[in-house]
This record gives sequence, C-alpha cells and structure tokens, in this order.
Amino acid sequence: MSYVIGVDLGTSAVKTVLVNREGKVAFEASEAYPLYQPKAGYSEQNPEDWVEQTLVSLRKLLEVSGVHPSEIEGLSFSGQMHGLVLVDAEGKPLRNAILWNDTRTTAQCHRIEKVLDGKLLSIARNRALEGFTLPKILWVQENEPELLQQAALFLLPKDYVRYRLTGDYAMDYSDAAGTLLLDVAGKQWSTEIAEAFELPVSLCPRLVESFEEVGTLLPQIADQTGLAAATKVYAGGADNACGAIGAGILSEGQTMCSIGTSGVVLSYEERKDLDFEGKVHFFNHGEKDAFYIMGVTLAAGYSLSWFKDTFAADKSFDVLLQGIDAIPAGSNGLLFTPYIVGERTPHPDANIRGSFIGMDAGHKLEHFGRAVMEGITFSLRESIDILRNAGKTVNEVISIGGGAKNEAWLQMQADVFNATIVKLESEQGPAMGAAMLAAYGCGWFPSLQECAAAFIRPAKSYAPNPETVAAYDGLFALYQDVYGQTRSLNDRLEAYR
Ligand code: XUL
Repeated sequence: MSYVIGVDLGTSAVKTVLVNREGKVAFEASEAYPLYQPKAGYSEQNPEDWVEQTLVSLRKLLEVSGVHPSEIEGLSFSGQMHGLVLVDAEGKPLRNAILWNDTRTTAQCHRIEKVLDGKLLSIARNRALEGFTLPKILWVQENEPELLQQAALFLLPKDYVRYRLTGDYAMDYSDAAGTLLLDVAGKQWSTEIAEAFELPVSLCPRLVESFEEVGTLLPQIADQTGLAAATKVYAGGADNACGAIGAGILSEGQTMCSIGTSGVVLSYEERKDLDFEGKVHFFNHGEKDAFYIMGVTLAAGYSLSWFKDTFAADKSFDVLLQGIDAIPAGSNGLLFTPYIVGERTPHPDANIRGSFIGMDAGHKLEHFGRAVMEGITFSLRESIDILRNAGKTVNEVISIGGGAKNEAWLQMQADVFNATIVKLESEQGPAMGAAMLAAYGCGWFPSLQECAAAFIRPAKSYAPNPETVAAYDGLFALYQDVYGQTRSLNDRLEAYR
C-alpha cells in the first residue's frame, strides 16, 4: 500500500493524517502548542514549538500506524495564514511569530491604506486588515527596527516548518496572497508595494505552486521521525485553500461554508478581474492559476461556545442544542449579531460588538441558543449574497466544520442560504487538502479534481424549505439593519470596555 501525509499546522495544534490511495485516513495524530499573549491584542507563537510538535506528531503517526516508511511517498502542508516569521541569514527566527489573530497593527493598516490608496486593491486585491502580514512587517519596522535590519527573509508558519524539514526556503501562492505583498493576479511579488514601504524585495522568498515538489527530508529529520529521507515534500497551501481542496471546491460554481471558531464562505473562481471593492478576500487557490473568494465571520462557532460557557456552562453542546428544533425560525422575535470580537465581512470593523435584539420575558435558554445559531448563519449569508450579487450561482454549498455536525444547523444553513447543503462522509478539513496536494504532486492522479472525485464522498444533503426560506428572508433584512443601528453606540461604548 502507498500513503501520503497531510500536515495541518493550526493555531492551537498540529494535526497529521496518513492517507491511502482511496483517500481513507488510515491514522491521525495531533500535538498542541502554546499561544503567547504578552499584551492585550498580541498573539504570538514560538516557531520552535511548531517544529518540535510536528516532528513528535509525525513520529507518533509512524509508530501507531506501523506503516513502513518506504510506503509513504510524499508529504505536504496546510498552514494557519498570515503569521510573520522573520529569519536571519542562518534561518534562525529573530523573534516569536506574530499570528493572524494578533490585532496590534491598526496604525500600520491605516498607513498602508494611505500610502497605497487604490493600488492596494488593484495589486494585492485585499484591504489592509490587522491579521495580514505586511502590517506586521511594518510594525516590526517601526517598533523593532534593529530586528528587521537583521532579517534575511520573511516566511509564513508552514513555510518555516517546511524549511526546517527540507532546508529549502519557499512560499506558495495561496499563502503569499495573504501577505499583501503579492500581485495576486500576476502571481509575483509586488516591487511597487515593497518599495512603497522601503522593504527590500529580497525579503520575499521564492514563489512556488502548492503541489510543487520542493525537496526531500533532511537526514536528521528522517532520523527523528522515522520517515525515509527520500520522502518527497510538496509546498502545501494556506489553511483556507487546503480546506477548500479537502472539500472538493475545485471548479466554478462550487462553494463551501466552514463553521469553526471563525466562519468562512469560500467560492472557487477563475476570473482574475472581479472587483469586490475589498468586501471579501480574493486569494490564489492551491489549484494552478485559480483563485477563491472568501468572506469571514470572525466569531462563528466561537459565538456559540462563548454563549454556552457564559450562560449554560453545566450543559453539553448536545443538551443545549436539543431544544432548538422545537423553536420556530426567528426564535420568536429574538435576533443576535455575532460581532463579539468585531467583524470582517461585510463590515471590517474591529469596534463593533454583538447584540441580542428583541428580548422578551417569554424567551428561554433555547430561544437564545437558536438566535445565536441564526445570527451566525445570517452573518455567513452576507458573504453568500456578495457572491450572488457578483453574478455567481450559489445553489449548492458544501458544509464543513462544527456547523456540519448538527442536523438542525445544516437545515438552518439550507433555509438561510436558500441553497442545498451537502455534508461530506469523512471530513478532515485542511489536513486532507494537504494530503491531496501530496497525492497529486506524487502523480497518483492527473489533476486535483480527479483526486477530489476519488477521495471525497457526499454523505447527505439538505434541501431548503420554501416557507422557512421566506421567513428567514424577512428576518435577514432586519439583521442587516442591526449593524448600522448599533455602530455608533458601540463606538461610544468602547471607552467602557
Ligand atoms: C484567513 C484567516 C484565518 C487563518 C486561520 O484570512 O485569517 O482563517 O488562516 O488559520
């Protein structure tokens, strides 16, 4: 039997999966690492922790599976996006990595928008958001200039780990797209953007395709993990691109909705000239010369876990959600907006906060639970509408993540999005996308699409119910009003946070 390995370098843990030629996950392993928050808004990790835990996870995968190293043909990566790793000429990190969920860079985002103006959207195709990489580089430039002077390269999290495994520096297009330094449609580093901030283009690593072979394992890595030194390593991609590949989002008309801590609506796109005015992200896909459009709800699953931990800590999720089926669509007039940590799509606003509107003495815990799920789903519908307004057909949506684990929520997605929702048989998220990049890279399939056809199987679909769709349409219009009606209240409340 032959296998490939997908390594998903997440924010809380690294997950490794061993996948066979039928796309079955034979074994998986996971190792956690710490997150450092030395100040409010700061979010950092030690790149050495990623490397150590990836090696531990790979070793366990081999030990537990009992698979012979020679049976493992290739390995690839999925990675948390945007995190800044600055390395010196010897490849040593100069400081902890500054992660995608670090929000210290508001001033740098304003500087980028001011200096580049319209060029930012025409070249980098995305607005300057605190999470992206260029604002982090500028933060170091302004606050730790001596470190930036020593920097030979900047890398993203999975690129650093891959460098340590292979000795090769590279960055794939799907991850580079999240730096704001890439000419996204032209697939090259933008000298114009780099020069506007006096950054040498030599700071940017070599660009590669996600399925490109970048080398084999260093002998000491082979020793530490038990893998063969001849194992081929493929570049890999951003976690959202890999999540899309792992859900089979590989041709026009395919859209997925992923509800994890944050929520993502992501659609495949081949046209490079679409203009969404920065309302949604536009990134390179892991598939050659393809792109994806993505809207993000910052607190999706997080809103529900916040709600449970705060108001029903003694109940399990299953118990909390049991009663919500009996509550009618619209939660008897209770509306929730999931802006509890600010929002990204369609309102890139770090100050906005959530609301429960319409609380009534008759509302019980179940009404609140349902309203929270509806609010999260309405927020994702905003992204679906942006896609539809741009002329895309969204009749079917693949649902993955926590939102695909609950029948009521799957039906709610069908009714709020007015689209058929498809749940997959075995869903492994970005780790499977990474394994598929290795499988395609190894030549197991002539295309990623054919790999997806062999690996990904739908389990069940949920059709929209026309009556509920109509009810939700009316409620969604009310939901959309809440942002504008609460914005200045939240700006004024900021002083009291
Ligand atoms: C995407 C983003 C997150 C991270 C999480 O823009 O910030 O989805 O990729 O790892």
